[in-house]
Amino acid sequence: MGKQRAFSGVQPTGNLHLGNYLGAIRNWVEGQSQYENFFCVVDLHAITAPHNPATLASDTYTIAALYLACGIDLEYSKIFVQSHVSAHSELTWLFNCITPINWLTDMIQFKEKAVRQGENVNTGLLDYPVLMAADILLYQADKVPVGEDQKQHLELTRDIADRFNYQFAKGKPPILKVPDPLIRKEGARVMSLMDGTKKMSKSDPAEGSRINLLDPPDVIQKKIKRCKTDMERGLTFDDPERPECNNLLGLYMILSGKTKEAVAEEGQDMGWGQFKPLLTETMIEALKPIQEKYQAVMTDKGYLESVLRDGREAAEAIANETLNQVKAALGYSMPL
Ligand code: TYM
Repeated sequence: MGKQRAFSGVQPTGNLHLGNYLGAIRNWVEGQSQYENFFCVVDLHAITAPHNPATLASDTYTIAALYLACGIDLEYSKIFVQSHVSAHSELTWLFNCITPINWLTDMIQFKEKAVRQGENVNTGLLDYPVLMAADILLYQADKVPVGEDQKQHLELTRDIADRFNYQFAKGKPPILKVPDPLIRKEGARVMSLMDGTKKMSKSDPAEGSRINLLDPPDVIQKKIKRCKTDMERGLTFDDPERPECNNLLGLYMILSGKTKEAVAEEGQDMGWGQFKPLLTETMIEALKPIQEKYQAVMTDKGYLESVLRDGREAAEAIANETLNQVKAALGYSMPL
């Protein structure tokens, strides 16, 4: 039996932060030899919020280069750009016509983001999860490695697949594979450095709330120095009264590769004055190889382009096959 297939993606909106890395990309890298992987830069999703046309293409390249820098290995994985494979847009339209609108208005991320867009909520924002379902289902993916915040979108993807199979392949073998989310407990929800109850996010206007993968050491140092803590001495995990403490210890644990028990013991008598420099150092060391590899990849744009071209060709072959099956099931004639 062949390998199972994994699919995932990140939006090219600004820089990648530690949440994207620990919640998603690190897990892609760790699991990649087990699967046949497709990792996409989801640039169509990036315009559901106001965006800058002058930087969209370069941001897309930055994310693709960061995938490589984080350790995506082309022996196991393809990297491609969503807008380069037109089947994503086309399948979204077809799915739009079988997705009840209340499934979309119920989405937590839509509600949160719609508040931020105020009067100008665009249809794309509402439709965002349908495009995400098209991304995943086009590749008949078995597994979708993501952070905790994407759980609801994955449930919707499963519902769309089930509904399509039920309505258009009844009594026949299912056309669309129903995928499973892959959410690792550690790092699934990295919190803001300025509020331990809020998710670390690209859209937070406060730059000090997140660590970007390309932040230089002095910036990391400054952000950790200023990050929110509390008045207690002795650092502990899982205290609901101390969300910042839990988040920072968790980051230290993952980035140092130590066990939870070891970190709990190390932190029990520590004050913030001792812990912060330790966390800073650990973070700088963990991000250094990624930053070095990123610089190397960016010096050879031709190479990056060839990676994306190769990825697109492989992606397109699979995506078009699924799209044709879906269109045939819906009753479309094929182009002559
Ligand atoms: P995006 O770009 O917002 O996030 C990319 C990935 O990072 C994870 N993530 C986090 N994980 C832990 N803690 C955080 N604070 C944190 N912030 C973000 C997200 O869960 C995600 O895995 N809608 C997707 C992009 C997408 C996609 C897909 C993913 C489009 N199509 C198909 C999988 C499959 C998103 O959230 O992007």
